[in-house]
Amino acid sequence: MRCRPAGPEDFTFLATMLGEAAIWRPDKPKPTADQVLADPRYALYLAGWPKQGDHGLVAEQDGPVGAAWFRTFTESRHGHGFVAEDVPELAIAVITSRRHEGIGRRLLLDLIEASEAQGYAALSLSVNDGNPARGLYESVGFQLVEKPHGSSLTMIRHAARSN
Ligand SMILES: CC(C)(COP(=O)(O)OP(=O)(O)OC[C@H]1O[C@@H](n2cnc3c(N)ncnc32)[C@H](O)[C@@H]1OP(=O)(O)O)[C@@H](O)C(=O)NCCC(=O)NCCS
Repeated sequence: MRCRPAGPEDFTFLATMLGEAAIWRPDKPKPTADQVLADPRYALYLAGWPKQGDHGLVAEQDGPVGAAWFRTFTESRHGHGFVAEDVPELAIAVITSRRHEGIGRRLLLDLIEASEAQGYAALSLSVNDGNPARGLYESVGFQLVEKPHGSSLTMIRHAARSN
């Protein structure tokens, strides 16, 4: 398995992974890439990909098996996990058949490293309080931000040097 930077050609795969992250419960039918992009709640995580400041990774082994990426947002237009304009929000998913092999952790750690290398002082995310991914996020240093939106939790991880 290797992690490589995501480019414009990965847009559809990233959209498929966005659908996996948006409808994360294993028993729920997943939206297609087109369906997720047609939903304004999710489309903003990928519209115009790749935009200035976007950064993503694709895990590959005989084809793409997972992806993680981040994007910065504005006060006027942002997703659930928004904290500040200079704190990118990340999204991550691994294809169902390849979960629990360490791919998600590898993507997350590599994405964190990339964000720090690019000078970002923190990363944020949104996770449902029932999603076991929360344990993964906590294990790499994400902490809860106050003010949850219902069952949707916002988490932030500060870069090592700003702690
Ligand atoms: C979250 C996700 C990206 C993790 O990827 P992964 O390759 O399965 O994760 P890893 O194998 O690297 O496991 C890392 C940790 O994930 C956590 N985890 C994630 N999903 C889990 C599950 N269903 N059950 C138990 N632990 C889970 C565990 O803490 C695990 O730690 P461990 O290996 O020490 O037990 C993947 O499960 C996924 O795509 N889920 C659906 C989409 C999603 O929920 N995205 C995040 C939205 S906020």
